[in-house]
Amino acid sequence: MFNLSKLLHFKRSNSLYLIISIAIILWCTSIGWAFNQALGADPSPRLAQSLRPDRSTVEVGKEIYVSTCSGCHIPIAPEVLPTETWQELLENPQKHYGTSVPNLIRLSQVLIWDYLKTYSRPILLRDAPIPFYIEQSQYFKIVHPRVEFSEPITTKSCVVCHPGVKDFNYRTLSAEWEDAP
Ligand code: HEC
Ligand code: HEC
Repeated sequence: MFNLSKLLHFKRSNSLYLIISIAIILWCTSIGWAFNQALGADPSPRLAQSLRPDRSTVEVGKEIYVSTCSGCHIPIAPEVLPTETWQELLENPQKHYGTSVPNLIRLSQVLIWDYLKTYSRPILLRDAPIPFYIEQSQYFKIVHPRVEFSEPITTKSCVVCHPGVKDFNYRTLSAEWEDAP
């Protein structure tokens, strides 16, 4: 026969479990929240310094870009690739040309993005494929009106004509080009 009192008893203990679980969840969440507050209130001194209000976030983004994106190859001038390329690369640091970009925390990602989108332009032809190599980029050709490239273009070839490239200086040209008409 159907045993009502047993069922009620079961239900009562069930709701007790529910209340205990909710209490535990609330407790955990509040601990997590407190942790977040503590971390948020005390960012590393270097970060605090780089976020001084008298410097624009784009400038900070540039510094973080150079330090994050120059470990394995030279830091690439943002204007030689379309904005879409930079966006794809920043969104997929773990899939980077067969390797992965380490230490790309969310805040760096946001600041680098701020810098790269400020100094690059959207893809020229709508629906054109996103170039993942400088060699395929229209903008690379546009910033080089005088240059006929015959050698393959890689991150290693920039230094031939841009001797300051290690210091992210693309203004200074090799003597040969500096003197060219
Ligand atoms: C762990 C090493 C590493 C780091 C750090 C790194 N890259 Fe790369 N990157 C590579 C490798 C490997 C290639 C493949 C081409 C090569 O050998 O130069 C590449 C290629 C590229 C290319 C294509 C260059 C071309 O040949 O046309 C771009 C653009 C690029 N990286 C952007 C970035 C950006 C943006 C960052 C920072 C968010 C970054 N890279 C950080 C390893 C790295
Ligand atoms: C064969 C020589 C040569 C090579 C290689 C070369 N450049 Fe250049 N680059 C020039 C010259 C010359 C200019 C000045 C514009 C012109 O006269 O066409 C220039 C201009 C630029 C500019 C504009 C600089 C400014 O004053 O704003 C950027 C950015 C640039 N190059 C990036 C690159 C990158 C990135 C690479 C490597 C992937 C590269 N260049 C490889 C010769 C070269």
